[in-house]
Parts: sequence; C-alpha cells; structure tokens
Amino acid sequence: MCGIIGYNGIRQATNILIDSLKRLEYRGYDSAGIAVLNNKAIEVYKDKGRIIELERDLPEIISTVGIGHTRWATHGKPNKANAHPHTSGDIAVVHNGIIENYEHLRDRLTQLGYVFVSETDTEALAHLINHYYRNNLMDAVVSALNDIKGSYAIAVLCGSELVAARKDSPLIIGIGDNENFIASDIPAILKYTRNIIYLDDMEVACVTPDCVSIFDINKRQIEKTVNTIDWDLEAAEKSGYDHFMLKEIHEQPRALHETFAGRISELEGNITFDGLNLTEEEIRSISRISIIACGTSFNAGLLGKYLFEYMTHIHVDVEIASEFRYAHSSPGSLVIAISQSGETADTLAALREAKSFGCRTLAITNVVGSTITREVDSVIYTRSGPEIGVAATKTFLSQVGVLYLLSLYFGKLKGIISSDRIKLMLVSLKKLSAQIRRILDDKESIRYCAEAFAPANDVFFIGRTFNYPIALEGALKLKEISYIHAEGYAAGELKHGPLALIANNTPVVAIATRGPIYDKMVNNIKEVKAREAPVIAIADEKDSEIEKYVDTVIRVPSTEYVLSPVLSTVVVQLFSYYVAKSRKCPIDQPRNLAKSVTVE
Ligand code: G6P
Repeated sequence: MCGIIGYNGIRQATNILIDSLKRLEYRGYDSAGIAVLNNKAIEVYKDKGRIIELERDLPEIISTVGIGHTRWATHGKPNKANAHPHTSGDIAVVHNGIIENYEHLRDRLTQLGYVFVSETDTEALAHLINHYYRNNLMDAVVSALNDIKGSYAIAVLCGSELVAARKDSPLIIGIGDNENFIASDIPAILKYTRNIIYLDDMEVACVTPDCVSIFDINKRQIEKTVNTIDWDLEAAEKSGYDHFMLKEIHEQPRALHETFAGRISELEGNITFDGLNLTEEEIRSISRISIIACGTSFNAGLLGKYLFEYMTHIHVDVEIASEFRYAHSSPGSLVIAISQSGETADTLAALREAKSFGCRTLAITNVVGSTITREVDSVIYTRSGPEIGVAATKTFLSQVGVLYLLSLYFGKLKGIISSDRIKLMLVSLKKLSAQIRRILDDKESIRYCAEAFAPANDVFFIGRTFNYPIALEGALKLKEISYIHAEGYAAGELKHGPLALIANNTPVVAIATRGPIYDKMVNNIKEVKAREAPVIAIADEKDSEIEKYVDTVIRVPSTEYVLSPVLSTVVVQLFSYYVAKSRKCPIDQPRNLAKSVTVE
C-alpha cells in the first residue's frame, strides 16, 4: 500500500526522504517519488520501479523541506506519469486513499483550464488546492478537502509550507528538534524521533521546522497528545535474518508471551482484559457473534468460530469483510473485527455497516491508534510488535492467542467451561511459547522437506475442525510468497470435488494432530494416498501410527487438541517460507500484494 513521508527541518531533506521511503518499502509499491524545495522552486523526481533506482538518478539537491511517496497503483497504471508527487503550479501533493468524486472534479477543473497529465485521482486534488491557493496553504488544503469525497492521507508542499491531513487513511506526525516529520507509519521515521502524534480523521497539520500546529476541518486549533514510542528501530529491522518473515516467525514465542502477559493467571483460572468494556451480564446475554476480517485475519477468525462454539456454545458467523457489507440479514449482537493493521478498508466498511445495526463492536488488532481502534466499543491489542513482512505470521498467532483467551473467558461466564478446565487450558497456553521454540530449533527438518516439494505446481493443505483454518492459512501463506497454486480444504470435503485434482505430482500437507476425529482424518489421508499423492503429515510427537500412512512426518510437541493449531501454524509458515526461498521469491514483498490494504 502507498507510503507517505514529509520532512521540514535543517538537514538535507532528500537523504531523509529517501531513507524513510526505503523503510516503507515493506508496504508494497510499484513507483516512488519525491518533491523538494530547491532554491525557491519545487522539483519533482519520480518513476516506476524501486526507490534505489530513484535514488541513483537524483542530481545534487540542496533542500531542507520535501515530501515523498511510494505508490501502489489503484487509479491508473504503475508508470512515471501516475507516480506521486503530483503537481499543479507551485503545489506538490502525495496522497494515499481514493478520491471517489474525482471524475466530477476532473471535469470541473478541466473547464477551469487545468490540464491533467496523469490518470490518477490525486492530480485532481493538486489542481483543486492550486485553485483555492491565496498565499496560505492550509486554507487552500481545507477548502479542497471540503470538496472531495473519499479517503485520504496527504502531504502537500508549497514553497517551504508543508501541510498534512487525513481521513480514513493512516498518518502520523513525528516531532524532532528543529525538524518535524509526516509519515504513514512509525518505522519510516523511528530513526529520527520517538515522539509521535496520531492524526485523527478530518485533522490538518501545519508542519514547520520548529512547530507542528493541528487544526480540525473548521480550522479550529486543537491540542494533541504526543506519544512516546517504546519499541526500537531494531524491532523494525531484520536483525540478521534473511527476511523479515523468518525473523517474525522466530519472534512468535515472544509475541504470544506478550499477548498473554498480564491477562491470565493460571493458578486462579482468571482471565482479564483491560479494554473489553463489556460487563459480565452483557457477555452472558450474547446469543450470536459475527466475526469480520480479511486474508490471514479471516483464517484466525475461522479458528475463533471453532473456539467460541466449542467453549461457549454461542453460534458464530465468520464473514469475509468485503462480503459482509452487502449481506441482507443483521449480524450477531457482538461483532468482532480482526485486523492486524487496523486499517483494512474492507474490514472498516463492514464494521461501520455492523454499527448501523446497533451491535456491540470489538476490535482485535496490533496497531495502537489505528483507525479501527477509534471506531469500536472495545479493543484488545495483540501486542505482537511491528510486523514488516507482507505475509502475516506473528500477528496471526497473536490474534489466535487473543481468541483463545476471549473464548475461554466467555465460556467461563456462560458456565460452559469449568474452572478446573480453564486452569489446565491456561497452563497449556503458557507452555506454547516454549513449544514453538522447539519447532524453531528443529526448523532444518522442515526446510529439508520444503525443498523437496518446492518444484510442485499445486499443493493441497487439509485439516478438520480446529485444524481446518490452519489448512487455509498454510495454503494462503504458500500461494502468497511462493506463487505456487495452493488450496486449503476441510479434509472431509476433498471427496466432493477436489479429489479429482489429486495425483502423484500433487503434494498434500495433512494437519493430523491427535483429537476426537483423528481416525476420520487418517481415512482422508488414505483417500489421497490411494491417488498416489505424496503426503506430508503434521502430527503429534507421540503419534507412532501416522508414519504408516504418509511419506513424511513433521512432528509438533504434544498439547491439548484445541491448542495444537498454534503449533501446526508455525510448521506451515516455515514450510511455505522455505519453499519460497528455494524458488528464490521476493518473500517479504510478494508481487501484487500489500501489507495494509486501505482501498475496498
Ligand atoms: C492484506 C495482507 C494480508 C492481510 C490482509 C488483512 O491483504 O496482504 O496479509 O491478512 O490484508 O489485513 P489486516 O490488517 O486487516 O489483518
């Protein structure tokens, strides 16, 4: 997704803009550009392709103020003309989001004599600001924003004036010494400052080297809190791993530990959440839950369904957010939105739809201050730390961690799960971090297995009940980063269609941890073996039977059946990672994908 940076200070702006843009690369982009004030004139350098190429072609520039952008195409092809910044006269604009009435604006501005050189919606905004400009950039920006419909995070440069604004798209302001910053997220500027202001919707910031003034859309000045970021840049860098994804897979024991920290007491069997805002009575009265999410978060939500239904007997619907919005029936009385970024446009739109039905809303997210957190009644943070790899790993596991706690807590209040059972579950939950470390210590065996199957064209992942969402997640990870066609299936469903595709060149990863329907899973494995498919089983370390039916076994430590999906997840992540590595794929930035998708 697009990234924004802005700088106004006393240092060389170009160096800071390029350095910060590189830190936004992980969001996914197809073109990049900067605009700087060089000797009283705005100069723009932009092109399709990587930031390193943009940097290579830059001339010597002396400037202390500028804006920069990484673009992920939404309106118009990825090319130089469509790359940001866009200019109109002396005004340069970078923009994330979508201006929905841009065709109307384009007609209006064309009639006024403005000439469009790109296919983007953003160019209309640049001309509109120019149209309103009367020696005060903020006034012009506010007038222009009043005319547009849609979502935006923008940084606008005119001479040495720098202005930022947001609506439905993330933007932060970094406060430094004699220098201030604008960015779409924290890692971009963490090297320069830890002091951050989260801009809210319909707020406008005027950024000079020694002052940041923030106004509402009616130009009334407002006071904002300056937050201090307590995590390090190192946490947002690779720390010696080949890829962020591998680093983040290794961070999972820590992430899960943080997810549970302060929330569980296994001795008393207590679970507490600080941001839940639901009384015990309200929880007892919940008769139906709707979970809304996209991508990996949807897979976590599906596991949530199995968990809630098992532990609380509450009926749960899990909906793909982009579909939920158009459903015609009302959601459950509690709607849980799951989103690692807290910015996914589809999830936000679905959430707003749910709110129109008067439901209680709860967000499970990783990003403090993200848009979703400001729109819900309650928030539970996953506390995974920053995740840079586009393919979500530790955020998924932490979401799952929250769902275990939440479903157990609800189950206790509903009287479905006994105190003793909860205590045992909490003890087992706490052991998971150490058990994940054991899998990580033995990752070479997973690499060996993955490399053997890396040439495959199609791979199936199968599982039943609690393991089915992990089959989906394994397939999603593999297709995202290795570009192999992969399918996740409920193992019992294979015989109703996909079995026709199974042959001796179709590896099947079977998640076969021990549980109440283990025997049925073994039958499903036999069905694919009968079609000569090579089968890799993910199985309990104490299972001495499974090797009779499969070609390769990857062992996971023994735990409760309902908790084993956590351990199987780590295996499918590593398997996908090593397949992709063997195929020399750009693991952290898969083609066509973005970390945070802020368009519907
Ligand atoms: C994008 C990412 C996925 C992610 C999905 C939902 O498509 O590439 O990895 O699962 O968005 O993101 P969210 O931030 O809402 O969890």
